[in-house]
Amino acid sequence: MKNLVLNGVSRVFSGEDEREVEALFNLDIKFSAGEFVSIIGPTGCGKTTLLRLISGLEPLTSGQILIDDKLVKGLNRACTLVFQQFSLFPWFSVLGNVTFALEMKGIDKSRQHQEASALLKLVGLEGAAKARPYELSGGMQQRVAIARALAYDPEILLMDEPFGALDEKTRHKLQDVLLDIWQEKRKTILFVTHNIDEAVYLADRIVVMAAEPGRVVKDIPITLPRPRNRLSEEFTELHIRIRNLIEIPG
Ligand SMILES: Nc1ncnc2c1ncn2[C@@H]1O[C@H](COP(=O)(O)OP(=O)(O)O)[C@@H](O)[C@H]1O
Ligand SMILES: [Mg+2]
Repeated sequence: MKNLVLNGVSRVFSGEDEREVEALFNLDIKFSAGEFVSIIGPTGCGKTTLLRLISGLEPLTSGQILIDDKLVKGLNRACTLVFQQFSLFPWFSVLGNVTFALEMKGIDKSRQHQEASALLKLVGLEGAAKARPYELSGGMQQRVAIARALAYDPEILLMDEPFGALDEKTRHKLQDVLLDIWQEKRKTILFVTHNIDEAVYLADRIVVMAAEPGRVVKDIPITLPRPRNRLSEEFTELHIRIRNLIEIPG
């Protein structure tokens, strides 16, 4: 079990002209183990800052982050981040990128190849193990990035607009790949996007944020059965409701 709790979390940056930016102000959120949560909101509402705080890459200005009632200090080992820019190692093969992560995780040399191959199979890349990242399409590179993130075997996967650079068809395909992985591995996933359709398609719950100061305006459970039909009336209603919340935050 890994429940993630944020209590009164704030992060202030000193911006231009000594002006203070409240990237996040007094956030109280709880994420349950195994939940798939989408975080949505306009540019500058603190989505990236939120993931960076949770991962421990960025210090809090005030508040607390707890995992299973234990205060997170420094790097949060329960989490792995996946970005929009795949940041793969160009000098390694696809397989090498994944085995590197297994090595970092301290997995025995003799098991690395087999585990990396299993992860590549999971993301549908078993045929591309020997390729270099630059030989692959954007969608395939992001599959490698997901396999590599899974190699760290995190309880919580933090994803920052991971499919933002992909065309729609590839994006839809990868959404289904991610849902399959989530169902198989039962990770907690915090998925930042500014694509409403993507959030409604994927998540158990959508946290809608607003900017200045960065805050949560609504926390909406999504109970539509999966696989979800993007053309259904319920889907469309949710889409409109969330769009209105983003355009006219409470
Ligand atoms: N390192 C930083 N220094 C100064 N301001 C920052 C820094 N990181 C983020 N900000 C500011 O904090 C706010 C939230 O940024 P960010 O978390 O990147 O939002 P989002 O990911 O939702 O677009 C923005 O106003 C941004 O300019
Ligand atoms: Mg961002």
